[in-house]
Amino acid sequence: MRIGVFKETKENENRVALSPQVVKQLIQKGHTVLVERGAGDASAFSDSSFEKEGASIVERSVISAESDVIIRVNPPELTEVDTYKEGAVLISLLYHLMNEELCARLASRRVSAFSMDAIPRISRAQSMDVLSSQSNLAGYKAVLMGANEMTRIFPLMMTAAGTIQPSKVLIFGVGVAGLQAIATAKRLGAVVEATDVRPECQEQAESLGARFITVQGEVGSEGGYAKEATEEYRQKQREAVNKSLFNADLVITTALVPGRKAPVLIDQDQVERMKFGSVIVDMAVEQGGNCTLSRAGETVEHKGVRIMGYGNLPSTLSTNASELYARNVITFLNHLAPEGTFLFDLEEEITDSTLITHAGEKRK
Ligand code: NAI
Repeated sequence: MRIGVFKETKENENRVALSPQVVKQLIQKGHTVLVERGAGDASAFSDSSFEKEGASIVERSVISAESDVIIRVNPPELTEVDTYKEGAVLISLLYHLMNEELCARLASRRVSAFSMDAIPRISRAQSMDVLSSQSNLAGYKAVLMGANEMTRIFPLMMTAAGTIQPSKVLIFGVGVAGLQAIATAKRLGAVVEATDVRPECQEQAESLGARFITVQGEVGSEGGYAKEATEEYRQKQREAVNKSLFNADLVITTALVPGRKAPVLIDQDQVERMKFGSVIVDMAVEQGGNCTLSRAGETVEHKGVRIMGYGNLPSTLSTNASELYARNVITFLNHLAPEGTFLFDLEEEITDSTLITHAGEKRK
């Protein structure tokens, strides 16, 4: 197959969908790989590093005209879809529930579009799960960003001038990002606490050295994801976490509920009772934010508390993020087309869940 990789066009996106290492594997399997000129620059993969592994560096129009399979990170623009070959395959994050018009256009162009964000949360799909590989890096980066904004260090430090007490870090949401945030903050020497609506997170958080704050009352989960918490649960959560929140030096919020606005976990009143000089990193800012005061792309200061609301953290670690994304993609591709042609086996769970448009129809 001829596999094409565009340079990502979304603002502030540094990732690229394939790495040179994965290009090499695709070429070994007998595929042809076309990479848009400069596509890997922002991930520190030069054109020559792709060429060295056997890819052809071409202009954008060649990728559209010649690719049987297009691999992307972000959903394409509508105008880009119009340039694809009829019947081409697209593999990308699509967020299909929020991108109706795009999916309709893909269907009308008879593009078979697979969405990387629709990979089911089952063990055999773990190695294809880009949400997971990217959130892991984001959780790490969130801690570093918070640490950089703080006026304190993380570890206990005994010096001739006296002892420095360790910082206190509180993490809301112990999913993939939250677990990595716990691990990173612990490694840096902080005292870490964490909470989540899913009781199974307690053991995971504790195994990384965090104290888990249990909230009475069940919210439940579905397909590995949390359900939306009730107002009664929120009240109990506030009562359970407030003491830790008001003592924390750094708070990282990662809580998401699929298909919904991010749950509000910290309101203005709570921020006003936090320690002067403390920092919140709101990782849910692109989904509306876990803190009512967060603003996308900004650090807001409110009564001495700095609230950081930066999206797309994986893009700030683009070399690793692209490498992991590319590995997820090749595992996915090998699953969908083990002998080099797509099977479109709609009875198979991973294919069925991820194939959003096919044969001129929108399936999801
Ligand atoms: P996510 O990004 O959707 O949410 C982040 C965290 O926020 C979750 O742990 C969720 O329970 C929590 N949360 C939601 N509402 C909350 C609230 N009101 N208060 C506090 N916390 C709240 O979830 P993520 O990180 O993508 O994954 C969740 C779980 O899915 C993982 O822990 C893992 O067990 C599972 N998973 C399974 C995979 C597989 O088997 N292939 C792959 C990836 C994850």
